[in-house]
Amino acid sequence: MTDLMTLIKSRRSVRKYEDRQLPDDLLSQVLEAFGWAPSWANSQCWEVIVVRDPAVRAQIQASLPAKGNPAFKAVVEASVLLVVCAKSGVSGYYKGQCSTKLGDWMMYDLGLATQNLCLMAHHLGLGTVIVGLFDHDRAKAAVDVPEGYELVSLIPLGYPAKTGGAPQRRDVNAFTHTNRF
Ligand SMILES: Cc1cc2nc3c(=O)[nH]c(=O)nc-3n(C[C@H](O)[C@H](O)[C@H](O)COP(=O)(O)O)c2cc1C
Repeated sequence: MTDLMTLIKSRRSVRKYEDRQLPDDLLSQVLEAFGWAPSWANSQCWEVIVVRDPAVRAQIQASLPAKGNPAFKAVVEASVLLVVCAKSGVSGYYKGQCSTKLGDWMMYDLGLATQNLCLMAHHLGLGTVIVGLFDHDRAKAAVDVPEGYELVSLIPLGYPAKTGGAPQRRDVNAFTHTNRF
């Protein structure tokens, strides 16, 4: 079994996928990992839409800038497209009021769940890429996200056809501070 550090370091954003069906049990495991993320007061504000319908995927793809997003093709080519949404006004709130100056913590919670999902997918030999650059309102309309919810990210999921090299990371010493910033 791959150790955790190797798994974390070898996960890459995958933008080219094989034309191959994703078995349901693998999809279930990936979604289970997503749902086991920690969240503000265990609020679990997340919702995931599994999109297979090519027509819906084409509509979602139209919300991405064709030239400005390297994940443009992955949105329609990966075995499935996961659309990650969140209920707003829950994470980071107590009795309807923000508990901290940082407002809604849904992006934080979704980030944690998303990394669980991406690492689990990688562990199972699958690829993912988190897609954040697109017209969110347009994508939201394509999948009927109701009021009170935000569509946050798109995650193509499938068998990798090509995996790029690792973009460099900042050295630990460059972001770690001791006692004060
Ligand atoms: C919040 C977020 C949004 C992202 N949006 C996009 C995107 O719209 N298109 C894309 O191709 N990659 C996107 N990425 C992937 C990053 O470019 C990628 O994670 C980064 O370059 C590091 O590469 P690695 O994932 O292979 O380690 C996004 C990643 C994150 C975390």
